[in-house]
Amino acid sequence: MAWQDTLNARGWKVPFVGKSLFQIGKDLRPKIDRVIMENSLIPDAAVQDKAPFPWIAKLEEKWQDIRDEAVRIRAEEIPSLGDISFDHGRIAADRRWRAFFLKGYGYTMESNARRAPITSALLEQVPGLVTANFSVLEAGGHIPRHWGMTKGMLTWHLALKSPKEREKCRMTLEEGDTVHTLHWDDGESFLFDDMFNHEVWNETDEDRYILLIQVKRPCRWRGNLLQNLFLKGVRHSRFVQDIRKAIESEGARLAK
Ligand SMILES: [Fe+2]
Repeated sequence: MAWQDTLNARGWKVPFVGKSLFQIGKDLRPKIDRVIMENSLIPDAAVQDKAPFPWIAKLEEKWQDIRDEAVRIRAEEIPSLGDISFDHGRIAADRRWRAFFLKGYGYTMESNARRAPITSALLEQVPGLVTANFSVLEAGGHIPRHWGMTKGMLTWHLALKSPKEREKCRMTLEEGDTVHTLHWDDGESFLFDDMFNHEVWNETDEDRYILLIQVKRPCRWRGNLLQNLFLKGVRHSRFVQDIRKAIESEGARLAK
């Protein structure tokens, strides 16, 4: 990237370009989060009320159509998150966590989106959408305790295919002294803030399918401005570009 070299030669810092997630504004992120939270229009809670998000009911209504598209793509065709995203590192070490990306940071994964046309059309109706993927946690899979990268987004799970042994497939979400235990029930959904520590287990012999969407946290303009700048930065980071390249080359390989 010539313009980047020019900037580097002049000693100007480009905070996001080419950086891994870990490197993205380690010092900057807490400051950005503080401004976002000062301007947040919703409370700082681990589990969020779905009412301020009218698109949720619309997608819940269509959950069977979404499910049909997701399960048609068999788990073994969906890449492990650790294979497409170097930066997910430790938490994606378990190859049984698979992600079929439809949208991310303004990019549409065209070859994937074509395989899920109904879901992709519904995603167009989600205001402030940042990422969307079918997330599969195979039988026996475990995602170690971790937290997200910004207060600027919320994560929504729509359960598409939940294991029958409901209690053995769960996510814990820590909020101070309270530990929320969340389960997936077909057609139902929950919204949460992934900056609270969470951990996921599927101790059943069935794969779990969900639609996972990340949306912008509703904020007043100042928070919104920083949120947009941050997400723009992430869009150009190695974190997003690596995933994009991996998905595109996988798509090209399958098209041959
Ligand atoms: Fe997470």
